[in-house]
Amino acid sequence: MMERVVSPKMKEEDLAIDASLRPKRLDDYIGQNKVKENLKILIGAAKARGEALDHVLLYGPPGLGKTTLANIIANEMEVKIKVSSGPAIVIPGDLASILTTLQKGDMLFVDEIHRLSRVVEEALYPAMEDFAWDMILGKGMAAKSIRLKLPHFTIIGATTRYALLSSPLRDRFGATYRLDFYDVEAMEKIVHRSARILNVKIEDAGTYEIARRSRGTPRVANRLLKRVRDFAEVRAGGIVTEAVAAEALELLEVDHLGLDDVDRRVLETIIKKFEGGPVGIETIAAATSEEADTIMDVYEPYLLQLGFIARTPRGRVATRAAYEHLGLPYKEKAPEPDDRPQQQALW
Ligand SMILES: Nc1ncnc2c1ncn2[C@@H]1O[C@H](COP(=O)(O)OP(=O)(O)OP(=O)(O)O)[C@@H](O)[C@H]1O
Ligand SMILES: [Mg+2]
Repeated sequence: MMERVVSPKMKEEDLAIDASLRPKRLDDYIGQNKVKENLKILIGAAKARGEALDHVLLYGPPGLGKTTLANIIANEMEVKIKVSSGPAIVIPGDLASILTTLQKGDMLFVDEIHRLSRVVEEALYPAMEDFAWDMILGKGMAAKSIRLKLPHFTIIGATTRYALLSSPLRDRFGATYRLDFYDVEAMEKIVHRSARILNVKIEDAGTYEIARRSRGTPRVANRLLKRVRDFAEVRAGGIVTEAVAAEALELLEVDHLGLDDVDRRVLETIIKKFEGGPVGIETIAAATSEEADTIMDVYEPYLLQLGFIARTPRGRVATRAAYEHLGLPYKEKAPEPDDRPQQQALW
């Protein structure tokens, strides 16, 4: 199978670059201006009062900077941050053993928080709300419940799937921020910054070429930059010009919008096999041999953002823009009463 170079999901090869390219301060974090502005106020106020930060929930598609932002928040608060994830915390005891090592103000980053099991989630409620840990000692009639005090700590939760979070969990976060795809201007700044750190010789037009094909996603931009650099070194004397970037990305089958073979297959499936939809996500998954979760997490958010597909109560439909992008003739259909696009949380 063809390797997906534009997948925003973390891969092995990203570990090293992610670490070296992660901004450490809020001022170096490019874009997401509203989120940054709000965070500055939240952090400034908590520091001025000498209190722990409210629990923060970050959500949005993969590769947009949730983990980066969590680390920046801890840096700006000048506190320690421990890192865990929904699937790693198997039983409430796992959570207890982390929480009891925290000191006042410290943070616990819980990645993929939508994957916490129900029992762990329920144990988390009093911890987040009352900084208390409930334990049952003994068994049967003799069992008694005791309540341990925890230090005032901060949970930073991250998820790509906000819709899967239960509402009691959502309600326990004092601040919730959604990260959006970056516009091309912000992406240019990100490519420019990464090129500087990685010592890549790149022209502005080359920066732009990579930026616009990166799906508004910093992780994809960093990966494409590395690939283009390799290409430039082997084929073009090491300098990334517009033509070099374009040629390298054509070779990787990434088109000018950042779509690759899988995106095109998803669109073609909806259009050719299902007359433009509506068609359910499971059906699309089966027809393209991809997993429904992967489509929802990885491909769909960007296709929705581009306006190439729309969600309706009866499934996904391809829009006129998608037909045009693929160069296929568009036939106007009378919409079914139920096929109005849905206004709801996308992730
Ligand atoms: N605002 C930004 N400015 C500069 N670089 C960024 C920014 N956001 C993210 N990056 C870069 O993108 C890479 C991916 O970001 P990060 O790992 O934080 O994404 P994520 O949202 O946590 O993804 P996932 O959902 O897969 O966990 C990081 O290495 C970082 O270098
Ligand atoms: Mg992450």
